[in-house]
Amino acid sequence: MTEHDARPLWHGRFGEEPADDLLAFTSSLAFDRRLASDDITGSRAHVAMLARVGLLTDDEAAAVTAALDTAEKELADGSFVFAPTDEDIHTAVERRVTELAGAAGAKLHTGRSRNDQVALDLRLFLRREGRAVAVAVHRLQEVLVRRAGDAGDTYLPGYTHLQRAQPVLLAHHLLAHFWAFARDVDRWLAALDRADVSPLGAGALAGSSLPLDPGGVASELGFERRFENSLDAVSDRDFVAEALFTATLTQVHLSRLGEEIVLWASEEFGFVRLADAYSTGSSMLPQKKNPDIAELARGGAGRLIGDLTGVLATLKGLPLSYNRDLQGDKEPLFDALDTCGRALAAMAGLLDSVEFVAERMQAAADGATSAATDLAELLVQQGVPFREAHQVVGELVREADERGLALEDLVAAEPRLGREALAVLEPGEAVRRRTTPGGAGPEPVRDQLAAARTRLDEQRAWLDEA
Ligand code: ARG
Repeated sequence: MTEHDARPLWHGRFGEEPADDLLAFTSSLAFDRRLASDDITGSRAHVAMLARVGLLTDDEAAAVTAALDTAEKELADGSFVFAPTDEDIHTAVERRVTELAGAAGAKLHTGRSRNDQVALDLRLFLRREGRAVAVAVHRLQEVLVRRAGDAGDTYLPGYTHLQRAQPVLLAHHLLAHFWAFARDVDRWLAALDRADVSPLGAGALAGSSLPLDPGGVASELGFERRFENSLDAVSDRDFVAEALFTATLTQVHLSRLGEEIVLWASEEFGFVRLADAYSTGSSMLPQKKNPDIAELARGGAGRLIGDLTGVLATLKGLPLSYNRDLQGDKEPLFDALDTCGRALAAMAGLLDSVEFVAERMQAAADGATSAATDLAELLVQQGVPFREAHQVVGELVREADERGLALEDLVAAEPRLGREALAVLEPGEAVRRRTTPGGAGPEPVRDQLAAARTRLDEQRAWLDEA
């Protein structure tokens, strides 16, 4: 086995060995190992650029690149041996490359600082992992559209204040969640586009006296553009904050959907039956079947809000340019993307397999009072001012309630409504009467489903490009 150089990268300036407490406190290796493949990708492009501008000979570049390949293989198969002084993944890779390639390896860090290097690695990471989350959102949207398409004319109560308000098609309800997730995909694509900037070549903070080519590295790495300002390049974590906000809002949407699943799966609602494969049991109560996926999706939102606010709080007081506080950007970002990605996949599976209990939904929606607004609108069609119509129907509902009478009988007896008005109270009639664009009835929902499918296709095309 190779002897490690036990000295830190900066040993030339220091007369003493680093204290163990310092190493233990400042090391980020435990979590930034996850950037290993991105670090190596960045180093390959850096080496190629150094050779292009004449700072490395072709032989040196070949030796360093081969050492990077070896380090990559060792990291992937677990044979990479970390040294106690490897304070982060960048240090570890550079040390190993120098062990393998000797003097040429010692040229790897020419014109580069870990400050621009870590910013690059994290952008490369986000480009891939952020897109993966957007793809997971898209998959969930596909499930929502499919279930909406299959829901036919099934309807359920629509609620405001969690009180029954007006019936809506189940498809309409599912598509309401679809549009929230569609905005999330838009936000992911916009955030990833703004993150598409290469910071490499900014050095520690001010660029370099060497003839580096930041634009060339940027295009070699597939970035849309390079940084404009070296101070900004190493200070900027907007891309982390934006990704965190986007993940957090996605998770908040999952949380609201999860809350409804929890309610709907309760015996009190009984609107859904969860598939066994997507529910959990109780260790003590034999009868239980719990909606844990929906609850964890809901709970995850709290966690992501913490990730987002933690990073914003870290950023708010930092002077330009790099400060070590920025090392704390990684764990929240990793945590948020992992939590959100897993929640999206599990919720997609849950929704794909859930059984909607149409009888329970429709029975809950068929109460005569669900059509109260339609009764008032009947009067409006006869020219009665809406405020007065509202009062007439409101009084009927109150009377029915107070005297324990059927609303139908009172409607039939009310001269301005009468027996013809009873048709409005027939099961399902109220939802069939919702005909306005974007409304909850069969006609507008057919159009909405078509629009949702078009949107899915457009988003699929964007995601394939991203
Ligand atoms: N581990 C550091 C981070 O994650 C890398 C940059 C360290 N730069 C420095 N000058 N100490 O931010």
